[in-house]
Amino acid sequence: MEVISARGLGKSHGRIRACENVTFDLHESEIMGIVGESGSGKTTLLKLLAGMTTPDAGEVIYGGKDGEKLSMFDIPQSARRKLLRTELGFVFQNPEEGLRMKISAGGNIAERLLEGGERSYRAVRENAEKWLEKVELPLDRLDSKPEEYSGGMKARLQIAKNLATEPRVVFLDEPTAGLDVSVQAKILDLLRVLSSEFGLSVLLVTHDLMVAKLLSHRIMVMKDGRVIESGLTDRVLDDPGEPYTQLLVSSILGDA
Ligand SMILES: Nc1ncnc2c1ncn2[C@@H]1O[C@H](COP(=O)(O)OP(=O)(O)OP(=O)(O)O)[C@@H](O)[C@H]1O
Ligand SMILES: [Mg+2]
Repeated sequence: MEVISARGLGKSHGRIRACENVTFDLHESEIMGIVGESGSGKTTLLKLLAGMTTPDAGEVIYGGKDGEKLSMFDIPQSARRKLLRTELGFVFQNPEEGLRMKISAGGNIAERLLEGGERSYRAVRENAEKWLEKVELPLDRLDSKPEEYSGGMKARLQIAKNLATEPRVVFLDEPTAGLDVSVQAKILDLLRVLSSEFGLSVLLVTHDLMVAKLLSHRIMVMKDGRVIESGLTDRVLDDPGEPYTQLLVSSILGDA
């Protein structure tokens, strides 16, 4: 079943065509990697798909739990924002966009759970602790503010906050940047389990082709706002059809 479908999506920022004619489907339980050089439009595409930025061409269709299809930009903005707090999760490249820096880490997660409809203080507290543990954040930092966290800790807190409401789809923009390899492996494992056992669908933007290779079932390669190549991960990375993908693969995987 498709959970997110893009049809001919386009968006300009001023004179820059940051996204052009993007069409694809993301299925339940599927993990899709999005790769491409800086400025190729990865963040723009993710924000369009999550209903955070309005496209100037095309549409995004969300496949709801009961099988209904919602055209993301035909529903009221309030309904889109509610989706983003409940059924969708979004981990921003810039943690300042995704966290409230002046309230505690636990408070950040609690806020999301309350928005998602949780009403029991005890359940909120237990859930916040559970998710902090899953992303390997020390429980004794539950009451610290994210502004006191390192970059890697902020990244983990954003992931915890966005998984806490058990969304159906999570958008992750460079989620493992700045993480130690061992913590990164834990996070990738967590996403893998959530996807295979609980049907979570994942859209993952990453500069790191190794991360894309380890986690994603399919990969889309972006250049100048367009998807220039897509397919099953091993096919795209081991046998790229486009010279640009070959360059990406040889320059990044070749160094590893
Ligand atoms: N709010 C904005 N206003 C003006 N231009 C923008 C804006 N957001 C993005 N752009 C431009 O759109 C293009 C795509 O940007 P985008 O952030 O989507 O790329 P990206 O692939 O996520 O890059 P990176 O890997 O550096 O995060 C770039 O040329 C960027 O400068
Ligand atoms: Mg980006």
